[in-house]
Amino acid sequence: MTRTRLTTVEDVPESGSFLFTVRERDGSEEEVILVRCDDADADDPVTAWRNFCQHETDQRLDRGFGAAVRAGEVVCPKHGSMFDTCTGYCDNGKAAESYLSGVDVAVDDGVVYLTDSTVEYSHDGGIDDEDDEDEGPSSTSHLTF
Ligand code: FES
Repeated sequence: MTRTRLTTVEDVPESGSFLFTVRERDGSEEEVILVRCDDADADDPVTAWRNFCQHETDQRLDRGFGAAVRAGEVVCPKHGSMFDTCTGYCDNGKAAESYLSGVDVAVDDGVVYLTDSTVEYSHDGGIDDEDDEDEGPSSTSHLTF
């Protein structure tokens, strides 16, 4: 299985998100957020979701400065629907009865890996942040195994 190192669990904010960009099979780019999942029964302490609301899919959850995460839920900045960080499920507001679109990640020894074979890691940050790729100190840390 191919996996790409994304970051560490420690670097995923408790009340925010870690944003990165993937390339979908059709060649398009999509933003993905990593958020904490505190459910002891969950497989991993971090989950990944495509960065858009299910009510209006052009609405980003993380607009470049971290998604709002409160009490285990990602809050949509537009109408306030809340999505469970562990399951992606929303039972309230305009996006009620929907699930965020998930991306497979796995945690191994405190490190978060992208394991979803339907997407390819592109770069940290949002789609528009690609030019910054070579500037950050973490740019050399994304190893694919
Ligand atoms: S756009 Fe997210 S709840 Fe309406």
